Amino acid sequence: MTGKGSGPNDALPNPKDYWANRTAGWSAGASDGAATDDTFDRALIEASAIIPGMDVLDLAAGSGDPSVTIATHLAGNGTVTACDMTYDMLAMAQARVDKLALANFRIVSGDMAALPFPDACFDAVTCRNGLMFPADKLACVAEARRVLRPGSKGAWLVWSTIDDNPTFLTVANGLRRYFGEDFPPRMIRHSLGEAGSLSALLTEAGFQDVTERRFAYERTVPIGDDYFRCAAARTIPQRVASLTEKDWSDLLSTIEEASAALRDGDVFRIPIVARLAAGTAPT
Ligand SMILES: C[S@@+](CC[C@H](N)C(=O)[O-])C[C@H]1O[C@@H](n2cnc3c(N)ncnc32)[C@H](O)[C@@H]1O
Repeated sequence: MTGKGSGPNDALPNPKDYWANRTAGWSAGASDGAATDDTFDRALIEASAIIPGMDVLDLAAGSGDPSVTIATHLAGNGTVTACDMTYDMLAMAQARVDKLALANFRIVSGDMAALPFPDACFDAVTCRNGLMFPADKLACVAEARRVLRPGSKGAWLVWSTIDDNPTFLTVANGLRRYFGEDFPPRMIRHSLGEAGSLSALLTEAGFQDVTERRFAYERTVPIGDDYFRCAAARTIPQRVASLTEKDWSDLLSTIEEASAALRDGDVFRIPIVARLAAGTAPT
């Protein structure tokens, strides 16, 4: 790998454009119904103690994870509010909910550092792979605490370090080999990846009974699965937009070759490691 890209603590220069420009890549790989892999979603539901009847807020909801899984879990008894600053991402979440005919789901455009909700109006807050990106992470967690009813739980899941998640590097290597130029991994994704970083934010924001754990599992991806296609589309959506199916086939072979260390017979064994923290809003 040449170059590590910008550092994990470098703020995104223009977050709104950054995410708006990535929407096409997410749409290429988004599930059109239930989550393809709901492992993170289930962990967040458990960590924030979500049960039917609750009003749940999912922050940085993007294309609907975990909010779509939460709506399925509530089965119409309770409400889910999916909030994100990128409307086009939320539109994907809404399309998934419509396809699954789930009730009591709404999408709301908003910045999680200044939420458009009154105090103490939710029974649980979740956030999956979103808190790494804002410049003022503490403001985001404090806002979640403000909108939670006293005694309710918030849970955040973020990527662990890049060394724990080697696929980000193997995909970047495959892209470099295919296009002949560098696409350094986006290190901001790992800005809360060190043990204790996430829980420190929750504690500083005033949450009680704060816990944090390493959350690791292995995803088994058959050769030819669209896993690497989604990864490439999300990494460089504009560059892959005009690829023909033949180009895609060559690109994916190159990425699979670059990921050979993860191959085990007919499958890739993808280590996936996150940090999961939860806390209770003070009574
Ligand atoms: C990596 S995506 C994660 C989406 C989804 N939670 C998932 O796990 O698939 C990150 C999302 O965070 C959103 N986001 C980033 N900063 C935000 C902010 N300050 N307020 C609200 N949403 C934000 C982006 O628009 C994007 O949809």
